[in-house]
Amino acid sequence: MLVQNCNPITLQFCKSAFLLKWFFAFLLFCTSVFKLYDRSVFLFTCVKTFLRFSRSDVLFFCFSITFDLLSRWLWWPAPPHAFNPAPIMSKVISFATQKGGSGKSTLALVLAAPLATEYGLRIAVLDCDYQQSIVKTREQVDAANFARLRETNPDAQYPYDVYPWQLNRIFDFIDNPEHNYDLIIIDVPGRADGDDVFNALTACDAVIVPLVSDYLDRASTAEFMTILEAIKKAADDAQIDFQYYGLPTKRVAGQREEKEMDDYIDGLGLSRFNSYLGHRKAYTRASTLYSLLNPAWSRYAGGTKDTNDEIRRVCEELIERLGLPDRRATAAISVSTASTSAK
Ligand SMILES: Nc1ncnc2c1ncn2[C@@H]1O[C@H](COP(=O)(O)OP(=O)(O)OP(=O)(O)O)[C@@H](O)[C@H]1O
Ligand SMILES: [Mg+2]
Repeated sequence: MLVQNCNPITLQFCKSAFLLKWFFAFLLFCTSVFKLYDRSVFLFTCVKTFLRFSRSDVLFFCFSITFDLLSRWLWWPAPPHAFNPAPIMSKVISFATQKGGSGKSTLALVLAAPLATEYGLRIAVLDCDYQQSIVKTREQVDAANFARLRETNPDAQYPYDVYPWQLNRIFDFIDNPEHNYDLIIIDVPGRADGDDVFNALTACDAVIVPLVSDYLDRASTAEFMTILEAIKKAADDAQIDFQYYGLPTKRVAGQREEKEMDDYIDGLGLSRFNSYLGHRKAYTRASTLYSLLNPAWSRYAGGTKDTNDEIRRVCEELIERLGLPDRRATAAISVSTASTSAK
């Protein structure tokens, strides 16, 4: 999602122009009110006032109009929220497919924490599923660990923000000029039967379809592709960037079905991530507080070096495909402070 970028000097000038414009508009308004107040019958007074404008009134009016046009020209094409002094480039993604239980929320959980702590991304997760899996993970699973972490480090923060959100209000969030997230992840319900899911997906720069190699998943992936193709076509017509990818998950190495699934997806023409998540117990213990790359939390969750390598590969491919910033160097500090407190 693109928010307009503006030169700070232009912005400052626009701000002054904006204020001056409203100052003159206010003066004009006051003049009119006084003129109307002077006379008693409203309509009659309007006509009379208009006809009896003095030369200075007319000059003043012309000056205000000129000023108004000038300040509009200075604005254009930036919308009013371009006054935000920090230009932002947020990417909006969703792990989505119509098949329930395919690992959408787990992908969001497994990837959001390392992308924030290791790769330094500012992330918001909008939990739009009525099940509220991610909100519940934070409020019910992570709350005790967070309280413990706060005892040793009163300034500790969650690595990313989680919001319970309504599907039909997605644009209110992503169009809000106040936030400065690099990445907004929308967790959608496992269905595609209403306009609300469709509309939420149109807000995304990329939709990532979890690919699970079983026959039922294959069929629903093919159906879901028709929705994504429709969005892509509309986005292309409107010259908006929209991508969709498949990301294998719950993968069991060496199974014949995995190869069959890959071939099936390639046959559908769905661009597939080279990286993937395996079917691992550790992923079922993903937290919104600690990344599975955090050694202490990984040990607790049953993670291994393979788990870490897998997560890193997916994070890096995601960053590359979406063109996200990679701030690994600055992120390293926050990881080390968290790692001492995981239980
Ligand atoms: N990579 C994985 N390895 C092992 N278990 C997984 C993996 N991904 C998801 N699961 C498990 O599969 C189940 C469904 O996962 P999840 O809730 O993420 O799916 P979902 O697509 O979000 O479901 P819904 O459509 O209901 O929102 C959960 O029990 C989760 O722990
Ligand atoms: Mg879910």
